[in-house]
Amino acid sequence: MTATKGLEGIVATTSSISSIVDGVLTYRGIDIDDLAENASFEEVAYLLWYGKLPTQSELDGLVNQLGEYAAIPSQVIEQLKLYPKDTNTMAALRTAISSLALYDASAQDMSPEANLNKAIKLQAQLPTIVAAFARIREGKEPVAPKSGVSVAHNFLYMLTGQDPDDIAVKALDQALVLHADHELNASTFAARVTVATLSDIYSGVTSAIGALKGPLHGGANEAVMVMLEEIGSFDKVESTINEKLANKEKIMGFGHRVYKNGDPRAKHLQKMSRELGKLTGSMELYEMSVKIEELVTGQKGLKPNVDFYSASVYTTLGIARDLFTPIFAISRVSGWTAHILEQYENNRLIRPRAEYTGPVNQKVTPIAERK
Ligand code: ACO
Repeated sequence: MTATKGLEGIVATTSSISSIVDGVLTYRGIDIDDLAENASFEEVAYLLWYGKLPTQSELDGLVNQLGEYAAIPSQVIEQLKLYPKDTNTMAALRTAISSLALYDASAQDMSPEANLNKAIKLQAQLPTIVAAFARIREGKEPVAPKSGVSVAHNFLYMLTGQDPDDIAVKALDQALVLHADHELNASTFAARVTVATLSDIYSGVTSAIGALKGPLHGGANEAVMVMLEEIGSFDKVESTINEKLANKEKIMGFGHRVYKNGDPRAKHLQKMSRELGKLTGSMELYEMSVKIEELVTGQKGLKPNVDFYSASVYTTLGIARDLFTPIFAISRVSGWTAHILEQYENNRLIRPRAEYTGPVNQKVTPIAERK
């Protein structure tokens, strides 16, 4: 038995949800470029769950259902108020999502209908948790969700208590489309491993949030912003990046396990970053990002991934840095739940093997003789 480090190149399951073939990402066979330009996040979530794009009435039905489910139990709001104000936002989200199960009478119902319904509920409630915690830690009351508006609109509304402008909604909506699913990424795999024991959907999503949090995965968007803040201004980009590269430091937002010739999602976020910069009259973050890309790609051949330009996009939208990874979760919960449903449909326990590298033929030394 020989281990493959990081399971690189291992095909661990079949899936009909999303694919990456020759650097092209598709959801249910539709190119991400097409979806990014021509579909809303709700259409994409429907596509992931039901395997087809919705008709207008199916879409209206889903938007209404999301609005209906978006309020979170008062007990969860009370818990959020008890979390230390400086709690890591992904840790807060992980705990709150897990506790949602306690107040859902259908949490242990494993019927396909109940699980699909819980997938929609989780999609509806996750943004409410993120926005509520963001306000509570600032000493503000949470804003109740609206119904009949998009997930992007509702999230921005719940953050500020004011209806966002169309440009901000469109930008966030497109970012959500781009992050919704991504084949067997680490957090989706974690979700599938968890539910393959026939554990419940809340356990699966809680596992996924834990995996997304790390800076080698979803946490990279926040880490990119930390780097941009550390660099501080355009004139310091070259020296700081050269120093990091010389010290063999990882540049966050670059590189990918699967894409070696570039992440197809990055160009959409780059365009969005440029357009939002122009609209707000503050191009510095965009220009710094472009310069970083020039240096890192030029010297290391590494291309930006989905997280790199997300950082300047979200900052230009006025969103706090530590909400970037929770926003990733707001989108990816659609993909996680679609994968969980697919896993339940054709389940087998996921239990790989390890190549043992420890000592052999050892004996129990009496305790008095141990050193
Ligand atoms: N900066 C500098 N060097 C890098 C970077 C980077 N961002 N990414 C990879 N490399 C280098 C590695 O140091 C390694 O060099 P070596 O062979 O000289 O040791 C080589 O490229 C191969 O890299 P690995 O780490 O083996 O690639 P792996 O497939 O294991 O990791 C990963 C992929 C985790 C994405 C990596 O590129 C990375 O850490 N990037 C930065 C974090 C990041 O942006 N994560 C988000 C990924 S997208 C997502 O999850 C949403």
